[in-house]
Amino acid sequence: IAEMTHMTGGRELVMVSNRLPVDRVTLEDGSMHWRASPGGLVTAVEPIVEQLGCVWIGWAGDAGEEIEPFEVGRMRLAPITLSIDEVAEYYEGFSNGTLWPLYHDVIAKPEYHREWWDRYQSVNRRFADRVAQEASHGAIVWVHDYQLQLVPAMLREARPDLTIAFFLHIPFPPRRIFAQLPWRRQLVEGLLGSDVIGFQRVADAISFRAVAERYGTAPSIGNTIVTPARGEQPGHTALAQEFPISIDAAAFAKIAEQPEIRARALQIRQDLGNPKTIMLGVDRLDYTKGIRHRLKAFDELIADGELEPAEAVLVQVASPSRERVEAYRQLRDDVEVTVGRINGERGSIGHSPVNYLHRSFTKDEMVALYLAADVLLVTPLRDGMNLVAKEYVACRGDERGALVLSEFAGAADELRDALLVNPHDIEGLKAAILRAAHMPEREQARRMRGMRRAVYNNDVAHWAQNYLGAVCAAADAKTQTQTGGRTEPIQ
Ligand code: F6P
Repeated sequence: IAEMTHMTGGRELVMVSNRLPVDRVTLEDGSMHWRASPGGLVTAVEPIVEQLGCVWIGWAGDAGEEIEPFEVGRMRLAPITLSIDEVAEYYEGFSNGTLWPLYHDVIAKPEYHREWWDRYQSVNRRFADRVAQEASHGAIVWVHDYQLQLVPAMLREARPDLTIAFFLHIPFPPRRIFAQLPWRRQLVEGLLGSDVIGFQRVADAISFRAVAERYGTAPSIGNTIVTPARGEQPGHTALAQEFPISIDAAAFAKIAEQPEIRARALQIRQDLGNPKTIMLGVDRLDYTKGIRHRLKAFDELIADGELEPAEAVLVQVASPSRERVEAYRQLRDDVEVTVGRINGERGSIGHSPVNYLHRSFTKDEMVALYLAADVLLVTPLRDGMNLVAKEYVACRGDERGALVLSEFAGAADELRDALLVNPHDIEGLKAAILRAAHMPEREQARRMRGMRRAVYNNDVAHWAQNYLGAVCAAADAKTQTQTGGRTEPIQ
């Protein structure tokens, strides 16, 4: 990562995401502090831009108050203020009550409300205006994720000098599902304002190119979408392609090698009663993550006598997420009732089969948990990538441990040596969990080696290099067109 400063070709980099990489939390006593924002976006992107330096525009996580820009290392963070109503309608409403379920295979029912859509447009406009204000001439603007899909077209209109890159961290739905969205044309046109549109999986990029043609009258030649002129806006081409995101594997490995982290892993095992098998689940508490399916399979394995409750523990870390959205409240209730029932029915004095932790942990503590776990269960019903799977693999330099991985996670495209499962198939899931629990050491080592190769071959530096390489090529092409082929010094 240290060698990456050339990656923007000397151009300023402006990051734009719904959340800043740090989140402001107001405690009950009214005091306020900053903590790392939740989710894969920050895990992956922050180590890169910390090195590159950037302006980062995003919401600071609290409603209401204006916050002045501030610096963290080489990043200048420029907070966007959202009112209570905007949080309710743009963030909880349109982003997480409409787009999130729609883009995740309609696992929950998306809600379509015109007021939410209005609010989504006006907040996207505020982000675009702020970028237009902050970005220097010829900068690269990198817009992230489903909350800001209208920003690229708004920016293209306001600032044709910018190179606009978009990356979708979550899946893009198949055309027949996307078709439900009453504002499908506007969203497609919003995204088509970009010069490069990155997706996690090949299938996502294919789906997007199909909707671009259908709803944006923008056909593709290979990975290149040809966008027609609209009004004053000239036509242009946009690259729409998969760039599977990753982690800073070496940084995780380094933490895993520290003697105090290894000691902590042993301590965790001991605190859990030194069971034969420790299984681990680590997720935001989200209905896409398949936590209910995982618990069901685990419970049935104990009920069937296949897993001895005293010998197997499932540690489930569920970090709080979107707690005011109804589907998330419902999920929390379901999960907590189920955990209580499993422990009540299958536990004994001093031993609970499920160790449920509803909070987030530091990176060090997560690595200790990965080292303590014999089996990692990653069973989402749909997931853009799932970096937890990659983190586990990066930490297991001892070539021990087994990964049960849903084929519906983006990571399944790369981690072919995991035990791949369809989490809807509870019998199949049970069989994979058992197989992982009883996997001979030689097989663990063989599979772990294959998975480690995949993670190291495409770590976050490779990902950023590929993605920003494509963005720089687009920027160079733009400079050429704007200067009629003359080369101009970059400002
Ligand atoms: O990676 C998907 C994502 O929605 C990110 O955009 C987001 O920052 C993260 O998950 C956490 O979600 P939220 O910001 O809604 O808490």
